Amino acid sequence: MQQTIKVEDLRLGMYVILSTSWLKHGFLRNQFKLTSEGQLRELRRQGLTEVVVDLDKSDLADEARMAPRLLSELAYISHNDAPHAPPVDPRDQPPPTRWHPENLVSPELFEAIHDKQMAPEKKSRVVYHHSREMMERLLEAPTAENIKTGKEAIRSLSDLVLSDGDTASAMLRITAHDFYTYTHSVNVGVTSLMLAKQLFGHSDGHDMHELAAGFFLHDLGKIKVDPAIINKPARLTETEMRRMRIHPYQGYKILKEAEVMSEECRIVVLEHHELFDGSGYPRRLGGDQLHIYGRICCIADVFDALTAERSYKKAMAPFDALTLMRDKMPHHFEKNLFARFVTLFRA
Ligand SMILES: [Fe+2]
Ligand SMILES: [Fe+2]
Repeated sequence: MQQTIKVEDLRLGMYVILSTSWLKHGFLRNQFKLTSEGQLRELRRQGLTEVVVDLDKSDLADEARMAPRLLSELAYISHNDAPHAPPVDPRDQPPPTRWHPENLVSPELFEAIHDKQMAPEKKSRVVYHHSREMMERLLEAPTAENIKTGKEAIRSLSDLVLSDGDTASAMLRITAHDFYTYTHSVNVGVTSLMLAKQLFGHSDGHDMHELAAGFFLHDLGKIKVDPAIINKPARLTETEMRRMRIHPYQGYKILKEAEVMSEECRIVVLEHHELFDGSGYPRRLGGDQLHIYGRICCIADVFDALTAERSYKKAMAPFDALTLMRDKMPHHFEKNLFARFVTLFRA
């Protein structure tokens, strides 16, 4: 499995493949594992901006060696971590929101989605910003009316992700990693939808609007979990974990009572923490017992949890998160789905 990554994101242990002739790059071989800081400096000195890395031949990065702790705390959330976002071009800053408390969705979201002149980079920032705001308000007041209104906004947003590959890819690059549930909801919504597009893009058998709503609202049930547990800046106890683990069912129940989503898409919410080997929750289902929609959401959910900031670790780089998922969670995800997911992050 190969991936193109930026030279500044290279780490020791990664296996790089250089496309230029060995006469030009000054290394003895075109393919080698990075074992010294000197090699990293030399690659930067060459003026290279990106190189291809072979995932299968790379070692795990330091953060990835924390796997046992990470794996046990995937349900852990910290609202106290500092946001970790890439630098923003001031010209791409979203405009101030003309939001009134009675409106869930700001008009700027729809204006940006339908603006044919706006460049993908800017559009991705504006749409991402207003989508997070919308999800924040929705999670604050998840009434049936708000879920219905939010679902309409998600419908427009999903049309954009499905039809405009440049903007969708730009959104993947600018995702924030603060692990607020609303940020996580948008991140998982966009990445799950992109994977679903890869899988079902040319098939009429899937209602992508309904499916997108399931992805964006997958963590709705967290509003029923005690904020003291959600905000706890330390590892959760067994009792707290048990309480956290009811959120898929709680989200499913809220959506069922609101009657605004198909049963098939409510399953996304119910199954997004089930793992392919049957070791997930709440029902410990596995393999073919799991709906394909839930399996998609699960991969995007774990990836976003790993790339988010935690109190005990920095956000993992996408490459490291994918490597950890491949090496430390080999039975948690359906292999073909995971392989397709990795391709979303190829430059
Ligand atoms: Fe969740
Ligand atoms: Fe989640």
